[in-house]
Amino acid sequence: MPDQTIRALDGKLFIDGALREGAGARLPVVNPATGEVLGTIAAATPAEVETAVAAARRAFRPWAALTPRRRAEALHRLGELIAADADAMARVMTLEQGKPLNEARGEILKLAEACHFYAEEATRVFGEIVPNDQPGFQSLVVREPIGVVGAITPWNYPAELVGWKLCASLAAGCTIIIKPAELTPFTALVIAAKVAEAGIPAGVVNVLTGKGSQVGQALVDHPGVDKIAFTGSSAVGLHIQQSCPVVKRLSLELGGNCPLIVAESADLAAAVKGATRRSFRNMGQICIAINRIYVARPLYEDFLAALGASADRLTIANGIERPDADVGAMASAEPLEKTKAHLADALAKGARLVAGGKAPEGEEFARGFFFRPTVLGDCTHEMLVMSEETFGPLVGVAPYGTLDEAIERANDTPYGLASYVYARDLVEIQRLSAGLDYGNVAINNVDAGIMNAPYGGRKQSGIGYEHGREGLLEYFNFKHVRLHHGVGG
Ligand code: TAP
Repeated sequence: MPDQTIRALDGKLFIDGALREGAGARLPVVNPATGEVLGTIAAATPAEVETAVAAARRAFRPWAALTPRRRAEALHRLGELIAADADAMARVMTLEQGKPLNEARGEILKLAEACHFYAEEATRVFGEIVPNDQPGFQSLVVREPIGVVGAITPWNYPAELVGWKLCASLAAGCTIIIKPAELTPFTALVIAAKVAEAGIPAGVVNVLTGKGSQVGQALVDHPGVDKIAFTGSSAVGLHIQQSCPVVKRLSLELGGNCPLIVAESADLAAAVKGATRRSFRNMGQICIAINRIYVARPLYEDFLAALGASADRLTIANGIERPDADVGAMASAEPLEKTKAHLADALAKGARLVAGGKAPEGEEFARGFFFRPTVLGDCTHEMLVMSEETFGPLVGVAPYGTLDEAIERANDTPYGLASYVYARDLVEIQRLSAGLDYGNVAINNVDAGIMNAPYGGRKQSGIGYEHGREGLLEYFNFKHVRLHHGVGG
């Protein structure tokens, strides 16, 4: 039975406050758990891109001129509408992305939470008064919204990764044009429908579907788009940075290759639990997924056996039929093929298969993109699983001798997004948190990102931040107003 919400959004774009039929070629959207076509999206045409940019430009000044309180009220309304319809929105996400329904529902509720968080932050954007060397002068530093934002997002968290950009833009007084991933466009369109329901003025939010290389690139190229907020692979992020034809603000949230260090003082059971969650949740399709684990040699064999057993216990299913499954289908053939390639490479170079290593058996898995959570032991940095982002349910494990060696190997990567530590000894904790060259370090937990702290990468993992006050400041320009009032001068 086709999903009613998806049917209503089939072939639609959201421009200037309304869902409208797209004029461009239709592209199919597939359910990754069954291989069925769920619906189609319209590839936005150059004329539709122009219309959306013009609408966002028209809407910018009036939206920016509203008091922060009014923008906050709109964001609160949006958050309430999203939370109230979380079940239907989650269903759309599971159908197009593959994650189990309960997890999709959790993501929708976090999007609602982001609306409320940024609504509150909107009213707390302050300026500064800077001391001057000469009497009679005053320097004010004020913050002004950047303008029109082009948001380009991936498919692994189709609601949250749109939401962080949308909510921060709206709170700051920017307008936004969203280009969601081709694999997961309906979640963005259903968010757009909520924007309309919340009474957010026409043109403030727009959603254009289509291919990144065409529609995404058109936003990068367009002189009427003042900032690109991109989440995706490092390769596409670099391409965007290099291909920008005019100077514009960029925030790039890119790939990771995230290590976990299990130190000698670690609580082993807690480390296994954390490693299982952060290696395999969302089928490992998370920028902050644990890709590689370094374990103090005395704990190594026990850790490996326990992690393998824990991975084997994870339930895997079509996420619509089993809402509480631990993992669902992978989002498409591409990350599945990369997972298999990294596995084959590691096994050929001497890794030990501890768990998984194949697709689950049974008729229910025959047509979808399923793979068992897989653990490899005795891995080295010559293996792709340790040196590249797999973006799949595969983790490599290796023993280490000294803490310095663990830090050196953890930092031996061009990426710098998130890293994880399990340790109880204060000296070990301090040395690791100071030594890890990453934007996020989670110690004795694996939830590196929280809404009110900055979240961003270093090195090839990106520039800029989302979440927290820092995430909001990405949507402002500073203006220095130097006033000579002459009093006391
Ligand atoms: P990408 O292939 O980079 O795609 C991301 C977005 O960019 C998609 O909307 C894509 O459109 C679009 N795009 C592709 N080529 C473009 C171009 N030339 N100009 C403008 N836009 C273009 O990434 P993905 O495979 O969807 O996502 C996985 C990657 O995202 C992983 O590397 C992961 O680590 C990273 N990620 C990072 C974070 C953070 S917070 N750092 C969070 C989640 C994911 P189409 O898909 O429609 O072609």
